[in-house]
Amino acid sequence: MSGEMSPIDRAKFIAAKRAVDFIEDGMRVGLGTGSTAAWMVRCLAERVKAEGLQITGVPTSARTADLGRSLGLRVVSLDEAKWLDLTIDGTDEFDPNLNLIKGGGGALLMEKIVATASDQMIVIADISKQVEKLGSFPLPVEIIPFGWQTTKTLIEETLINLDVMGRSSTLRLDRDQPYITDQGNYILDLHLRRIGNARQVSLVLNQIPGVVENGLFIDICDIIVLGHGDGTVEVRDINNGTVTQDRIEVVDGDNLFTDL
Ligand code: A5P
Repeated sequence: MSGEMSPIDRAKFIAAKRAVDFIEDGMRVGLGTGSTAAWMVRCLAERVKAEGLQITGVPTSARTADLGRSLGLRVVSLDEAKWLDLTIDGTDEFDPNLNLIKGGGGALLMEKIVATASDQMIVIADISKQVEKLGSFPLPVEIIPFGWQTTKTLIEETLINLDVMGRSSTLRLDRDQPYITDQGNYILDLHLRRIGNARQVSLVLNQIPGVVENGLFIDICDIIVLGHGDGTVEVRDINNGTVTQDRIEVVDGDNLFTDL
């Protein structure tokens, strides 16, 4: 990666760089998916190389597995690692309680399994992901391909009784074909616009036959690391109630990660 960074990339990079400070020698770490998580994987690979850390990474998608391996990280399956010290991942939205909508990149199922199998989840984001109420970002729901249209109808009918502003849904496409997740499933994007009770929506959705998992992460995230385009970074810890601020210097034109 080289050349000038856009403010948004700078914010993502700064959040990622600060978050890998939480990783210690010997840790088993869940590696998230998406553009912000990709920065984190690069920052981690750089630390591993520079400091000779022994880190085991568990990827949340085939994409992240490929990236981690290409950068020389030790990558294993969750079954090999069994339990993780920490997962660092991006998000599509987060609210003041650090509840999340994830799955914009299609990896919500593996992301949720890996994050839940971790002592701690740290989310890295730029300020555009912050919302008062979840739901502007369409909620991804991973569903079984068999009978998917019936599942879609059932979901939309179930939403009538829930505190949401919209209830239409669209099948996610990859060009003109259904998008297929790493686990061979489809994704429905629910256009809820505003989710009044995210915990209830999450529980109810997962009761519907055909639904594998939804992208609401409730009480899973412990810490959010928020990068800003001006180089400042904020760390909010929901368990301790602390907020700390820092600054990370990024010099435009620097050849980032060229030594990897
Ligand atoms: C992947 O399925 C998602 O949950 C991502 O973590 C989320 O979409 C954030 O992606 P970006 O960091 O690319 O915005």
